[in-house]
Amino acid sequence: MKSIFAPFDESFKEEFYRLLHARRSIRKFKKDPLSKELLEKLLAAAMEAPSGKNRQNWRFFVLTGKNREEYLSLSQKSWLGIKDILEKRLKPSLYQFTERFFYTLGDAPVVVLCYSQNDSEERYHTSIGSVYMAVENLNLAAVAEGLGACTMGAPLEIKKEVDEFLGVTELPEYQSGNLELLCAVVLGYPDHDPPKAPRQLDHRVQWLED
Ligand SMILES: Cc1cc2nc3c(=O)[nH]c(=O)nc-3n(C[C@H](O)[C@H](O)[C@H](O)COP(=O)(O)O)c2cc1C
Repeated sequence: MKSIFAPFDESFKEEFYRLLHARRSIRKFKKDPLSKELLEKLLAAAMEAPSGKNRQNWRFFVLTGKNREEYLSLSQKSWLGIKDILEKRLKPSLYQFTERFFYTLGDAPVVVLCYSQNDSEERYHTSIGSVYMAVENLNLAAVAEGLGACTMGAPLEIKKEVDEFLGVTELPEYQSGNLELLCAVVLGYPDHDPPKAPRQLDHRVQWLED
């Protein structure tokens, strides 16, 4: 029987690294909907991620159609929380593009709101990190399927309102303070081809001498 650790063939390895490089934040999408089967496949890929103490503490809320439409007004509100910082950091054309992205979510047909269910059996940062591992799997699976994605921390600007919008405020785990919004991931077929944001390699890795 072939071990799961049998080496992947060279062409797969090349494709895998191409996939990592191809992943970039997409902020303009075709309006085409994604099938439920495809979304289930992406979320199953997300949940292949490791998690502290294998608690699998990710919780995903998937918005499509009318719900996604209603969520737009919250996305617009979240813009107000970050626009001043971005105005200083971005050149005017990029600032306008980003503003439009927040107002329309780039027409992405799907928004996945990602939560962590925290508890006293696991350190807080381990719980949070576990969810982000799943979020990256989701991003990479999207690329493998010819889709684009953008992870967004902006909903944290209006965390409570997002919680209320989803109705999670009624859940006992929320009421005990253990269910926490971390980010949104918007998904759809890409309708632009942005360049890869350059990576800064200096001072990121330090090798200790033997
Ligand atoms: C945790 C997290 C939060 C982010 N929040 C936002 C966001 O609110 N809005 C947005 O347009 N991009 C957001 N991004 C995307 C980053 O801007 C992007 O990853 C970064 O500029 C590098 O570009 P790349 O994803 O194309 O490689 C976020 C990314 C991460 C990982």
